[in-house]
Formats: sequence, structure tokens, C-alpha cells
Amino acid sequence: MKKFTFTLMAFVTLMVACSQETVEQAEADPIEDGEAVVAEEGNGEEEAEQQEFNEDLPNISILATGGTIAGSGSVGTNTTDYQAGDIAIEALIEAVPEMTEIANINGEQIVNIGSPDITNEHLLTLGNRINELLATDDVDGIVVTHGTDTMEETAYFLNLVVKSDKPVVLVGAMRPATAMSADGPLNLYNAVLVAGHEESVGRGTLVSFNDRIASARHVTKTDTTAVDTFVATEEGYLGRIVGGVPHYYTEITKSHTTETPFDISDLEELPQVDIIYGHQNNDPYMLDAAVENGAEGIIFAGPGNGSMSSVMQEAAMDIMEEGMPIVRTSRVGNGTVSHKDDYLTADSLNPHKARILLMLALTVTDDEEEIQEYYDSY
Ligand code: SIN
Repeated sequence: MKKFTFTLMAFVTLMVACSQETVEQAEADPIEDGEAVVAEEGNGEEEAEQQEFNEDLPNISILATGGTIAGSGSVGTNTTDYQAGDIAIEALIEAVPEMTEIANINGEQIVNIGSPDITNEHLLTLGNRINELLATDDVDGIVVTHGTDTMEETAYFLNLVVKSDKPVVLVGAMRPATAMSADGPLNLYNAVLVAGHEESVGRGTLVSFNDRIASARHVTKTDTTAVDTFVATEEGYLGRIVGGVPHYYTEITKSHTTETPFDISDLEELPQVDIIYGHQNNDPYMLDAAVENGAEGIIFAGPGNGSMSSVMQEAAMDIMEEGMPIVRTSRVGNGTVSHKDDYLTADSLNPHKARILLMLALTVTDDEEEIQEYYDSY
């Protein structure tokens, strides 16, 4: 087993961690893949303490992508006006030294951006890096720090492409690291706890947030600013963290990870799938625009049970006759879209998760029955 150590600054403060100096240093010295995090020496006044590898603890790799958990603002009371993806992985780890009591921590900066900027290319990089790490005996679990805005898309993607039973846990924060009562540090600690816990094995990709543990398949962001934003409204959470112990109550019944046919190891890109929103006075020109701009599949986020206006239906039928899949989902936010003749439907997946599954499905097949089976199973 690979042995890694890192220097832990005993008295590092969050404001020091958030300083521009830290960010500039991280930009100047990008972390190489697999390199263990070495906390900075600071100004020399703090006392450095060498923490040794502890073979009784799980080895957890934290892959950082940015978001509010790595965000900084100018005043502690400001929870909405800040820069997401500003703080480097070293500083995030330094800010939660308690993590070293529950795991051997290794950190990598995959990217440091707000999650609306996550692209298909980032998804492939992250998925392949996780598969690479989990294939070794050196890593027992993964934590991905991520912006909350699109976290459920990345989480569901990983739920479909990770080829391991070892835990993969996504975590973020609703308040930047500089805010009063920032939620990031405890969320991060809890995510490491979940990733290193034996009962998390085989449950697919998890989202650990605000003391709850949810399946990537079911969880969605439900509030623009509140810290209890992640909810699995219909299906419920898989478990919760109480007093530093994860408790699981529910099993995930949908197939995931090792049970899917999706292999991203040789993929250079994912097929383009666009989402079109349904509303009154819907004009089909958006469908035509998607086709003209290279879409290989379309997700329709319809009102109610995925319904479509007559003019949209007419245009959609023409497009489907050319062989392009159109998948009906609902803009309602809850419920399962029932099967409809000639259309694919996405079960209870919201439109943005349905897009993730259609992109992956199209890397394997263009058979509509097979794609519908994926929607019914995953
Ligand atoms: C983001 O998604 O990157 C910004 C918002 C957040 O992390 O809460």
C-alpha cells in the first residue's frame, strides 16, 4: 500500500486559507495527478505537525472541482455575492484537520470552477480519473467537491460510469468558505466519513449534504440558497449522519455503476443532447435549431406528464422519423412520466439527468427499445 504523508498546519485559519496568496500559489503549482496534498508552510509562525499514514484508517482521495465550497467573499454575512471555485484543494483540506482522524487524505485539483461551467469533457476526465484511482488497492473511496448548481448531473453521470463498488461521494456547500456559519467544512468532513464507511460500499454514487446521504439517481437541488437544498422528494434519503456516524435506512433499487454497459475509457467526447422546455405557445423552431446545430438526441421537458402541444408533436414526429430519439420528461419536478406511444420517456429522471443518460446510451446503441430499457432500469 502506498504510504503518503502531509504536513498539517495546526493553527491554520480559514481566512488564511482563503487568501489570494493561496489561490495564486495553487495556480502557479498545479497538482499532478495522484500527488498527495502538502499543506503550505505559511509564514513560519504556525507549528507544523507531521501526520503519518495510519493503516487502520481508510484511504480517501478528494477530487476538487470548485463551486461554493471553494468559494470566497469579502464579508462573512454575505452568502450570495462571492466567487465560486476560488480556493485550492490544499486550503480546503487544511481547514478541516479533523478529517485526518478518520481517513488518510489525498487531494487532487481536477479543475476549480463554478459548476455551470462543467462540460462533457470535465465529466469524462473526472469519471476516468475516479475509475483509475478505484482500480488500485491504495484508494478505498472518493470524495468529489463540486458546485451545487449542477452537482446532480455529475453525480448521476458517475453513478452510470464508475466501474467499482467502492464509495464515490459528492459534496458541496451553499455558503462560501468565508461566510458566517459556512456549511462546507462539516459537509466535507461528513463526506469523508461516508466515503470511508463500509456500509457505503455498493450503493452507487452518493451525495452527502447537510447531514443527509442521498442516491445520485434520486437527489435534486430544490432551493436556490437554503442549506437543506438537496432532497430526494419522492424516494427519500438513503440515510443520515448522526453524531459522526452514517446510518443507512433505504436501499437503492435502480441499477448503477458496475451494472451498466457504459465504458468511457476510450471516449473522446459525448454525443450532443439538448434540452427543450415546454410551455404555452410553444413554437417548434427550437427543435429545428437543435437538429441544425448537431444534436443527436433531444430531451423534452414538458408540462405535466411530459405533454406536448399539437404543433410540437407534429415537428417532433418528423424528427423522430429521421431516427433521432426524443425523450419526454416533465418540468413539474416530481413524478414519473408514463410511457407514450412512439416517444421515449425518462421514468422519474428530471430533464437534466435524462440528458446525461441519453448521452451515454447513444455511445452504446441507437435502438430505441434498448434506450427505453435503460431509462426504465437506471
Ligand atoms: C456552483 O454550482 O458552482 C455555484 C453554486 C454552489 O456551489 O452552490
